[in-house]
Amino acid sequence: MKILIIGNGGREYSIARAILNEKEVHELFFMPGNGATSSMGTNLNIKDYNALAEFVKENGIELTIVGPEAPLVDGVVDIFKAQGLVIFGPSKEAAQLEGSKVYMKNFLAKYNIPTARYIETDSIEKAFKFTETLTAPIVVKADGLCGGKGVIIAQTHDEAKIAISEMLSGKSFGDAGRKVIVEEYLDGYELSMFAVCDGKDYILLPAAQDHKRLKDNDEGPNTGGMGAYAPTPLVDETLYQKVRERIIRPTLDGMQQEGAPFEGVLFIGIMVVKGEPITLEFNVRFGDPECEILMPLMTSSVSDMFYKAATKRLGEIKVEFSKQYAVGIVMASANYPYGNSTPAEIIVDDVCHTEIEAYTHISYAGVSRVDGKLYADGGRVLVCVGLGDTIKEARDRAYMRCGQVHFAGKKLRTDIAYQAL
Ligand SMILES: Nc1ncnc2c1ncn2[C@@H]1O[C@H](COP(=O)(O)OP(=O)(O)O)[C@@H](O)[C@H]1O
Ligand SMILES: [Mg+2]
Repeated sequence: MKILIIGNGGREYSIARAILNEKEVHELFFMPGNGATSSMGTNLNIKDYNALAEFVKENGIELTIVGPEAPLVDGVVDIFKAQGLVIFGPSKEAAQLEGSKVYMKNFLAKYNIPTARYIETDSIEKAFKFTETLTAPIVVKADGLCGGKGVIIAQTHDEAKIAISEMLSGKSFGDAGRKVIVEEYLDGYELSMFAVCDGKDYILLPAAQDHKRLKDNDEGPNTGGMGAYAPTPLVDETLYQKVRERIIRPTLDGMQQEGAPFEGVLFIGIMVVKGEPITLEFNVRFGDPECEILMPLMTSSVSDMFYKAATKRLGEIKVEFSKQYAVGIVMASANYPYGNSTPAEIIVDDVCHTEIEAYTHISYAGVSRVDGKLYADGGRVLVCVGLGDTIKEARDRAYMRCGQVHFAGKKLRTDIAYQAL
C-alpha cells in the first residue's frame, strides 16, 4: 500500500518503522518527515492541505496517517475526506477534545465521565469565587493549545488568582487563555492510555507511563517527554475495565450523539485516585514518546489497523500485542527545553552485540541529514527503545543502546521506568 504519514517526530518515525516491518511491502511518504525518514520513503514539502490532498490523489496513496495535533485541529481530516480520501485521525470538530479544554470538560460533565470538579469561565470574578471553594493546590488551565505549558498547579490561592488574571488578560497565552478552567487538584498517580477508534469500535493499547520532567527523580522543568515504558504494572484488569466502561465507551457514544464521531487515537490522561480512574484530559493523537514504545509491541499489522479504523471497520480485525515490555529513553540536545542548540553530528557505533541488535532500535526525531550525515537539530533528537521479557531487561537494553549513540551535548534521564522497578 502507498501510505502518507503527516508529521516529523519520533512518533511518526516509529509508525513508519512498524509499517515497514510488516510482511507486505509498502511505499511511504512523509509530510514533512525528518532527516531519517528520508531513508524510509519520500519526504514531501507541500504545506497546503488542499494541495497535499491533490498529491495523494494523483499518486494513488491509499491511506494517510496524521501524527501531531496541529493539523487535526486545523481540519486536515475534513479536507481529505471531502476529496473522498482515506485518512486516519479525528475531524476538526472531534479534535476539539484536545483543542479546547473547555469543550472537553463540558463534554465530560455532560456525559457523566469522571473528571476533576471544575468551573469554565472567561469572568475573573467567577474564577476567583470558585477558587474559594477549593483547597490548595489549585489547578488553572488555559482553554486552547499551549504546547504543554498551559496548566498551572498553584500552591496557594493567591498564586491561583495570579495565574487566572494573567491567562484571562491574554498575557500568558494570548487567545488560548481567554477562557480558563479552574479545577480541584487530584492526588494520585498518572497513566496514559491509548484507544485506536473508528467512531464506534476501538482497540485499547497497553497502558504506558511517561516522564515529563527533564531530570532524574522527576526534577527540573516540564518537557514534551523524556522517556516512557509499557505495559505498566500499575494497571490491572480491573482498572482497564473501569477505563473501558466509565471513560472510553461513554466518550465514543457521546461523540456520536454530538454528531462528531471520534475516529483516530484517543489519548486519555488519567489520574488514578484511590483505585479509581479520573480523566485529566484527552489528546487526539499518540503521545510522543509513548508511540515509540507501543508500535514495537504490536505484532499484528499496524497499517491494517489504521486502515480499518479509517474506514470504520475495526470490528473486523483482531489486534495482537507482544508479551514483552518496551522502554524508550529520549536523548535530547544540549539546550532542551529552553532553546535551540547548535546542530551536532550524530555518531552511532556499529552494533556488534547480538542482544542489542535483536532487542533495541532507534526512533529518530529532531534530526536533519546533510551530505549523508545525520545531525541533531531539534530538542528531542531520538529515542532508544529496548524490548525485553521484564521491564528491567528492556530498560537495561535501551540504556546499552544509548551508550552507543554520541552527539555533542546529548542529554538523557538515567531513571526511566523507575516507578515499575
Ligand atoms: N486536576 C489535576 N490534579 C492534579 N494534577 C493535574 C490536574 N490537571 C492536570 N494536572 C497535571 O498537569 C499536567 C498537565 O495537564 P493536562 O491537563 O494534561 O494538560 P496539557 O497536557 O495540555 O498541558 C498533567 O499531566 C498532570 O500532571
Ligand atoms: Mg497532558
